[in-house]
Amino acid sequence: MKTVTCTAPVNIAVIKYWGKRDTQLILPTNDSLSVTLSQDILHSKTTISAAKEYSGDRLWLNGKEEDITKNKRMHNCFRETRAIRKAVEDKAAAAGQPIELLSTYPVHVCSENNFPTAAGLASSASGLAALVFTLAKLFDLPSDMSELSRIARQGSGSACRSLFGGFVAWEMGKEADGSDSKAVQVAPETHWPELEALVCVVSDAKKGTSSTEGMQNTIQTSPLMAERLKVVPGRMEAMKKAILAKDFESFGELTMRDSNQFHAVCLDTFPPIFYLNDTSRGIMRLIHEYNRSSPDGKIKAAYTYDAGPNAVIYAPKQNMREIIQLIAHYFPGTDSDYYFKDTYGVLGGAALGENYLPAAHTSFEEVIPVHPVGSVSRLLHTKTHDGPRVLSEKDSLLNEQGLPKRTA
Ligand code: ADE
Repeated sequence: MKTVTCTAPVNIAVIKYWGKRDTQLILPTNDSLSVTLSQDILHSKTTISAAKEYSGDRLWLNGKEEDITKNKRMHNCFRETRAIRKAVEDKAAAAGQPIELLSTYPVHVCSENNFPTAAGLASSASGLAALVFTLAKLFDLPSDMSELSRIARQGSGSACRSLFGGFVAWEMGKEADGSDSKAVQVAPETHWPELEALVCVVSDAKKGTSSTEGMQNTIQTSPLMAERLKVVPGRMEAMKKAILAKDFESFGELTMRDSNQFHAVCLDTFPPIFYLNDTSRGIMRLIHEYNRSSPDGKIKAAYTYDAGPNAVIYAPKQNMREIIQLIAHYFPGTDSDYYFKDTYGVLGGAALGENYLPAAHTSFEEVIPVHPVGSVSRLLHTKTHDGPRVLSEKDSLLNEQGLPKRTA
């Protein structure tokens, strides 16, 4: 029996992935680019053990056993990693070297997200990245990260970007077999450590359209999507340049424009897809007001939204205190302990609340009302950080019998 435990981070795209040219292999219609967020704040943790005594593959997700045979995307990742392991085993056998035939053993997979899976925080990206990275360590695969990213892509498209830290591009590739559709690191997390993020978890009663279904409807019905596909290549180049130059002005404007264009093609889909709600739009307005008030005219923060109402605000470190105070003023939470934990100590011991809001910023109330308590349920302050990590045996989610230590 061999057991490995790893964590993988969430990534939030600044040039969005939306649309597949091949739905089976998960090949996108455009390149995308994301920032990897710290695993200390948000992560998926996965333990996998392989043993010849197991009766079959089993999966526990967030403490509950799931039918692994129904999970086609996960199966793609098993098939691909087992095939590489099998090739290694065959080579070792041919050379007369002893090797454990792990590729033939059933596996037990136990995975947990340290955030609510339903909160719309890219859990399939971190989850499938953790799965593929853990399988690669379990099977001791010789593959590099970009090769693993091609496998993770077949589990969940954006998972390929969670295999790297820092700033990561997913190159769409041209080949029909997907062999050149992979993630590459544009810059490591150490390149621009001043760039931070504030995840605003927006409450929403509605269950949105799944991205798998939504993006294919966009491809089939939106004339605006063809325009987007002309715009993205130039944006990718401009975004890489902005990141390499640590130019927040360009990074921020491109980020907001690309998020807005993504939501525009959603509205142009027929029937239309709505991911933003009144709270999401209120946060957009607030960020534009905040940028307008900037003394030197330079932007101070940028928002981006995925397939849901949550806002992610990117900003240089020096603006974060002000931004947290602003959001807490205009979008107050119900339970202050749950609402914001000052992990990085930006408030310097001060409490959240209007007394701490700079007077200039209360004037936004003319255009932005103070929203109902609870419309933002939680603020997570995080930053760009590293790729997947291997944990020690004591962090295993499975016990000696290969069963979950904890169940829901
Ligand atoms: N989907 C959402 N979270 C996941 C996880 N942790 N592992 C696998 N798939 C997931």
